[in-house]
Amino acid sequence: MGNLTGAPRGTQDILPANSYKWRYVERVVAEEAKAFGYREIRTPAFEHTELFSRSVGEGTDVVQKEMYTFSDRGGRSITLKPEGTAGVVRALLEHGSFNEPLPIKSFYITPCFRYEKPQAGRMREFHQFGVEAFGSSSPLIDAETIFLGQSILSRLGITDVSLQINSIGCPACRAKYREVLQEFLTSRKEMLCDTCLGRLDKNPMRILDCKNPDCAEVAKDAPHILDYLCKECQEHFEGVKGALDTLGVSYTINPKIVRGLDYYTRTVFEFTTASIGSQGAVCGGGRYDRLVEELGGPSIPALGFGMGLERLILLMECNNCAFEEEAPCDIYIGSMGEAPAQIAAKMAASLRSEFGVYAECDLMGRSVKAQMKYANKIGARFSAVVGETELEQKKITIKNMVSGETREMTLDKDFIEHLADFMAYEQLYNSCEDMEKRFQTTFQDKEPKP
Ligand code: HAM
Repeated sequence: MGNLTGAPRGTQDILPANSYKWRYVERVVAEEAKAFGYREIRTPAFEHTELFSRSVGEGTDVVQKEMYTFSDRGGRSITLKPEGTAGVVRALLEHGSFNEPLPIKSFYITPCFRYEKPQAGRMREFHQFGVEAFGSSSPLIDAETIFLGQSILSRLGITDVSLQINSIGCPACRAKYREVLQEFLTSRKEMLCDTCLGRLDKNPMRILDCKNPDCAEVAKDAPHILDYLCKECQEHFEGVKGALDTLGVSYTINPKIVRGLDYYTRTVFEFTTASIGSQGAVCGGGRYDRLVEELGGPSIPALGFGMGLERLILLMECNNCAFEEEAPCDIYIGSMGEAPAQIAAKMAASLRSEFGVYAECDLMGRSVKAQMKYANKIGARFSAVVGETELEQKKITIKNMVSGETREMTLDKDFIEHLADFMAYEQLYNSCEDMEKRFQTTFQDKEPKP
């Protein structure tokens, strides 16, 4: 296949056979976020490059190596968003939203772009679900945000994730720590990889989460940021741990979680898994108490997280989690002959527009046998066939494709209404029967053993 028809490296098509998984996950994350008071925000897919270099940080891998940056036809430097946070802060600042009552809680589902080496779970175009909460410096909101991440993972049926938390302090405590860390790392610099040698001056904390085994060996004995936190940052971290304990969230403290973006302060966290290969970070986030001010706004504390939807779905597939299927076709109205095909099409149209029923009819000129095979394939719950005889006798048979039962109905002026009522009644009846069966099973399970 030539380049013209192949998708660019690191991107993927989500075909109809899989898109229901995405819609399900997107629905669940949005519902959970709403239950925590988040409202959706949508920002552009691209921003001025400066927004990312100033927020994510000039020295980070994302800004240095991974951004899709180009000059537009007006000579502006534009970047496809590599993450969701910066755009949200820019938008809220631009629209004066920080004058509104706090906290402001925003969530988004957005494509992001990073020029990374593609592998399972690492794409050049990927999708983030993210939440950003502005206005509170209370440890309670740190715990609430982390709890939201956990609620989503558990509602999706994901069990093999672990939560790691850390505090990277404020600029004051970090300056002291940086000096000690730099000294420690410099004394072992012959063991560091080339990338980390470059980080030694600009961003020594990033060396702590380098995947190179030699760097990891050095990092093992490195001093911990937690030993250098100032009193306020220490108290804050204690508060977060206490609130997580109260909420029953289990976590591990990992002083090596430093995150790859510069805007973080205090709490940082990641939900990771070992089930999907090396790209195990499913969700990452933390506080960024200075970013709003650094981008020209008031001093407003904030925090949030980003979840990679590709990784989430990969993980769900590995865990055999159920993706809620979309409702199958309610009724397939087949036909035999040209005039009946027109009537079938009209019936389907009325069912859709008047009763919101998902109805299909033959558009392919197939034989009745082939039409019924198709009705089965799309999982139609009911079917009917309109032929010349039905039109003459003004009667039509509706078949319940699940139970096999049939019902004859008169083709009079109220037919569509009666049909919609009948289908709704049958569906309700079936789901009641289902519930009754389930109830009986549960009841039997609970029966005291003799
Ligand atoms: P991040 O850790 O860079 O943080 O990305 C968040 C999540 O996006 C990761 O945990 C991962 O699941 C997913 N992800 C990142 N890069 C890729 C990729 N190349 N392919 C597939 N998935 C990927 C942020 O972006 C911050 N904005 C999160 C945040 C929001 N912090 C505070 N608020």
